[in-house]
Amino acid sequence: MSWVIRVPATTANLGAGFDSIGVALNLYLTLEAELSEEWEFIPLSDGMDDLPSDKTNLIYQIAFQVANQFGYNEVPACRVKMTSDIPLARGLGSSATAIVAGIELANVLLKLTLTTEQKLEIATAVEGHPDNVAPSLLGGCVIGHYDNELNWIHVPIHDLIFLAIIPSFELKTTEARSVLPATFSYKESVQASSVANVSVAAICQGNWELLGEMMEKDRFHQPYRKALIPHYDALTELVKEDVYGVFLSGAGPTMIALANEEIINQKLEQWKNAYPAFQWLTLQVENNGVTVNEI
Ligand code: HSE
Repeated sequence: MSWVIRVPATTANLGAGFDSIGVALNLYLTLEAELSEEWEFIPLSDGMDDLPSDKTNLIYQIAFQVANQFGYNEVPACRVKMTSDIPLARGLGSSATAIVAGIELANVLLKLTLTTEQKLEIATAVEGHPDNVAPSLLGGCVIGHYDNELNWIHVPIHDLIFLAIIPSFELKTTEARSVLPATFSYKESVQASSVANVSVAAICQGNWELLGEMMEKDRFHQPYRKALIPHYDALTELVKEDVYGVFLSGAGPTMIALANEEIINQKLEQWKNAYPAFQWLTLQVENNGVTVNEI
């Protein structure tokens, strides 16, 4: 028996929605898993060669953890072919896709018939926040709050381009979180959360100009993290006039400009020529989440 599990990439935060807002994008981790004698992970895409091929692989670790949670002490062994076009450690949710894939793998192999709510709770508990895992599971935009219990709203998004500007270097989330302040004054947090509130309203109304304005006013993470990204200000200046807004995707280092198709058609070549060392990817929202098919 074999299964194909396809998990979309994500971008998180969208400015001030720190650890809370995320959107699924049309890049995918795809697993083809078939029952086998022992566990084996086979990377088929460029850039995946360093991923472990044995039980130390994050996907197995998560599947095993889910199995334990439901009273099993092992997951039936599989040979898993992995393909992915999601850049690793660039702020596009690659580890969240592995977490979601691991949950889905345990679900099919052990016939757990997990509900969407259960998958969301498990994935969020592993990650600590829902902003990447929830859109990977559900597609579209998910706005969530987690304090050992998850509350969330799903908002599909149409007709918006997410132009990813991807540096050639990796940035680990732990490093990007280490530059954030440990405390925040009451006054600052009231200001910062009002920016997030308007951002959410703008997303729900599809008011991308307003969302773009709010992205610039984020106080939760971008002002601290941008120093880690060479050319952050210059790139923002370059595209800002023409796009709705620019934000740091998740913990970075990828930056994303929100734009419409017309602008991309007019300007992309010019921007690419100005910063050829960056990879420029025109992405769309994936409004469907993970899919699992038995073949
Ligand atoms: N919200 C997270 C962060 C995303 O910005 O650190 C990466 O896990």
